[in-house]
Amino acid sequence: MLTKENIKELKAKGNDDIAFLIRENLKSNKYILNILENLGRLPNDFDGSWLPELLENKSQQVRYWVVKNLGKISSDQNLDTLINVLNCEEDTTVRREAVSSIGRMRNPKAQNILIQILNDKDPKVIIQAIRGLLIFKGNERIDNCLKELINHENEMIRTVIYKEYFANTKDKTNQQPHSKSYDFLKNVIVNGDVREILRSIPEESFHLTFTSPPYYNARDYSIYPSYQAYLDFLNEVFLEVFKKTKEGRFLIVNTSPIIIPRISRSHSSKRYPIPFDLHPYLVNMGWEFIDDIIWLKPEASVKNRNAGFLQHRKPIGYKPNAITEYLMVYRKQTDKLIDWNIKQYNWKTIKESKVEDGYETSNVWRIDPKFDKTHSAVFPVELCKRVVEYYSFKGDLVFDPFGGSGTLGRTAKSLNRYFFLTEIEKKYFEYMKSFLTKDTIFNELSSKFLTYPEFKKTIIT
Ligand SMILES: C[S@@+](CC[C@H](N)C(=O)[O-])C[C@H]1O[C@@H](n2cnc3c(N)ncnc32)[C@H](O)[C@@H]1O
Repeated sequence: MLTKENIKELKAKGNDDIAFLIRENLKSNKYILNILENLGRLPNDFDGSWLPELLENKSQQVRYWVVKNLGKISSDQNLDTLINVLNCEEDTTVRREAVSSIGRMRNPKAQNILIQILNDKDPKVIIQAIRGLLIFKGNERIDNCLKELINHENEMIRTVIYKEYFANTKDKTNQQPHSKSYDFLKNVIVNGDVREILRSIPEESFHLTFTSPPYYNARDYSIYPSYQAYLDFLNEVFLEVFKKTKEGRFLIVNTSPIIIPRISRSHSSKRYPIPFDLHPYLVNMGWEFIDDIIWLKPEASVKNRNAGFLQHRKPIGYKPNAITEYLMVYRKQTDKLIDWNIKQYNWKTIKESKVEDGYETSNVWRIDPKFDKTHSAVFPVELCKRVVEYYSFKGDLVFDPFGGSGTLGRTAKSLNRYFFLTEIEKKYFEYMKSFLTKDTIFNELSSKFLTYPEFKKTIIT
């Protein structure tokens, strides 16, 4: 088998030898693939006339690599070969690569064929054709053809076209720079209904929101007339959070399905799949789904639902112990890449915010739950710590609409971020205040505990 170095040398000599070796070894796809995969960049005068012969090869992988290499040699003859592949090839990966190769040739003669490909059935083929055509962006005919795709049924195609031709050019001159936040929101806890409070603050205020919403009628602090009313309430809150989140930044929602116990032995209990029911609302309002992280708790720490089954072992009466919760990760929809968000910070902040070794590499986070005498559903500090470290920079403003005992605020502060919390219940608001004496963190940073009317007076934009 030839090494990369051998192939490089053969290429430098002129490629008669490569053609010879390939023809000599036509029976060994392994041999052929090794050469095709390691050809690398091809010089302008590279003679690839031996490549099309291999398009008859039975191996899809060989045909794929032939097509890829043909795309590296910009000749009109290869353009015809690739168009032929596109029309005759059955394998979708090879077809996609053919379009990609046609695009990479940057040959104006390819424009017509690329425009025709916009009607293909395979969205990925169309996207490759769009990439090829975007090289000629500014050409009126091409721009018009591409703009028409804004109504295409495939969402990936619509997103690409939107970004290229219709992206939001909203004037943001009056807003805070991306890495900054308003002083009147820093380290502030407001006692009131989050919906009302959020309506009074400017757009694009927060860098990150991490929250655990009230459980649907499962705990004393959360009484809603119906499940639909509960979902409507969350919809209202997260729509407001959406508006107040900076471009391309994250929302992380901690929820799990909950169970409402049966009212008597002759009724059954009811399980509500909150994360799955909430998801479509979030996506509809413009949150882009990014990841699902599983918070895994020790089995001994959760309610045992297994006792009955343990005795009778009758199928369909099986009830697993629920030892997981979700952290659903969303990003505020934007046409900008994450890199754009990162570039809004100076190098010092980026360096100081770097996540240290030992971070969690998987989406299963094994963390013990935290029990608290005053509040029945508090975040463990470790959970908040990971979210804050992985999804915000030092100096960012981190928000929890359902503040509870204020775990997120204290953790964010200890990691040199600012926090803004809202909490409707006076008793939990007072409980957070009690940390003023117990917890030096709130104390040191002179956190402000305000009623809604007091908070309103502080708003300066
Ligand atoms: C699941 S707990 C959050 C606990 C919190 N993560 C912690 O670490 O302590 C939900 C909290 O949301 C609060 N809440 C419910 N409805 C609210 C509303 N409309 N505005 C603000 N807070 C609300 C509840 O009082 C409760 O304390």
